[in-house]
Amino acid sequence: MANDMDVEDITRVAVLGAGNMGHGIAEVAALAGYDVTLRDIEEDIVREGYEDIEWSVHKLDDKDRLEEDPETVLKRIMPLVDMETAVEDADVVIEAVPEVMDIKTEVYEALEAHAPDGAIFATNTSALSITDLSEVTERPTQFCGMHFFNPPVRMQLVEVISGAHTGEETIETIEALAESFEKTPVRVRKDSPGFVVNRVLTPLLNEACWAVHEGDADIATVDSTSKYGVGLPMGTFELADRVGNDVAYHVLEYLHAELGEAYEPCPLLSQKVEAEQFGEKTGEGWYDHD
Ligand code: CAA
Repeated sequence: MANDMDVEDITRVAVLGAGNMGHGIAEVAALAGYDVTLRDIEEDIVREGYEDIEWSVHKLDDKDRLEEDPETVLKRIMPLVDMETAVEDADVVIEAVPEVMDIKTEVYEALEAHAPDGAIFATNTSALSITDLSEVTERPTQFCGMHFFNPPVRMQLVEVISGAHTGEETIETIEALAESFEKTPVRVRKDSPGFVVNRVLTPLLNEACWAVHEGDADIATVDSTSKYGVGLPMGTFELADRVGNDVAYHVLEYLHAELGEAYEPCPLLSQKVEAEQFGEKTGEGWYDHD
């Protein structure tokens, strides 16, 4: 199947998954003027995602970062649970569901049944293989990675990743879409584990855990050194709480399996995940966020 869609043809973007990344991506698309559907499996999850967008859009307005009325932006977003309604008119579908292959496979099967033939599918996966995901669908040439960073509304970069089957037109359209979102796309040349950002970032988060685990420093000291020595905008543990300890752990597990021992998740991180202390989204992580 050849993709002949230009970015000018795109009016409706469907985002699947209303968690941290999904609702942030939906917000970015709405801010850029697109009609957006935001879909998740339960009413409560979609409502919470929409409420987070409401908070963020009003915060942007308070900070004079919004060029139009917040309500105008919010009206472009339709939160819902029904897959058919979410995707039947979509030009581009951005998938941001949990990083579990079985969940993603199930979502792509349902999506394929209802999406228009010409629609492009883009996945926000943090690490999983774009080629493997594309092969779950019937349109591997119209499939690529479109990886945003948390919080999408504030982070400039988008990694655009080709799988083995991705068509050049698909990549060009998604790069142009990222630019229309006022983001800076970078093309990742190989569908390699963790792409570029997570291959670099998650070992940093992991190493911070090892330093504490082995008694070299406490969490506050590591965070101070990250900010005042390395110049990061947040401490490493603050960032892990922002990204989600579960997300960092899943990426590391995948890198460990694919790339070897250097990526073995630190037991301290595994314990956080077992305790479901994922960070900001659960109210508790390395820090208390209540
Ligand atoms: N929407 C609107 N406003 C937001 C917001 C959002 N989503 N998130 C934060 N803000 C607000 C805050 O509430 C705060 O408001 P107040 O001052 O009223 O409290 C304000 O923004 C902070 O803004 P500043 O410009 O003063 O702060 P900053 O310049 O420090 O920027 C930041 C904040 C952009 C989040 C910055 O700290 C940063 O870049 N942190 C690093 C984030 C990062 O590295 N993300 C990538 C993680 S990797 C990943 O996501 C990928 C993966 O696959 C794991």
